[in-house]
Amino acid sequence: MKHAGDKRRREFYSGRHLARAALLKAGIGPTAILRGPLGEPLWPGSVSGSITHDQSLGAAVVCTDPDIAGIGVDLIEDPWQVGEPLADMILHPEEANLLRIRFPLLPATGVAFSLKESVVKAVSVHLGRYMDLLEISIGGHGEALAAHVKGLQAPLPVMVYAAEFGLFTCCLRPSGAALEHQKLTFESGLRTS
Ligand SMILES: CC(C)(COP(=O)(O)OP(=O)(O)OC[C@H]1O[C@@H](n2cnc3c(N)ncnc32)[C@H](O)[C@@H]1OP(=O)(O)O)[C@@H](O)C(=O)NCCC(=O)NCCS
Repeated sequence: MKHAGDKRRREFYSGRHLARAALLKAGIGPTAILRGPLGEPLWPGSVSGSITHDQSLGAAVVCTDPDIAGIGVDLIEDPWQVGEPLADMILHPEEANLLRIRFPLLPATGVAFSLKESVVKAVSVHLGRYMDLLEISIGGHGEALAAHVKGLQAPLPVMVYAAEFGLFTCCLRPSGAALEHQKLTFESGLRTS
């Protein structure tokens, strides 16, 4: 953070503040949250978590459930800001159709972008590499949505929550044990209001 500008510094420290507050709520005392080689926050022990920030808001989630090996969240205050010209770098045509049907009041490109950023946060460290957003496909899974990721066998549950503050998305990466016992189901909420 030494050479970062003011805005970046503010978002980094506010993200860390939110993350420590979330850890405290989960019963985990004050601890440093360092930054890993892919930019990921390094969580203590067996905790998984995720941080996001946008213009004026930020969020952090932590999870101590052993069925969850990874979690990613993303917040976009104005999903319309994700311009249509970027669609080809983000969306597969069939995803655009699905998202337009599921979320008629939201821009498909913005929803896909946020969902895929959540997926990157949940899985890039597991894969150990940079990810292209087109390696991820969002599909329907009954009423819910799932992300299919190149290199991962099982689809991952993803969730979209649209509210007055903007758009919030989340992706869960189940642990091997949860997958084996099919413990983590696709019951993630689909909210559009
Ligand atoms: C990495 C990425 C998801 C960040 O998302 P973003 O929308 O730009 O920014 P957000 O504010 O929502 O999230 C930023 C936070 O995500 C977290 N993050 C960054 N990289 C991460 C990763 N690889 N895994 C998990 N979390 C990560 C960090 O906590 C970061 O905040 P911090 O630097 O203040 O700690 C995004 O830049 C991306 O999709 N990149 C694609 C390329 C890629 O694969 N990157 C992974 C490693 S090279």
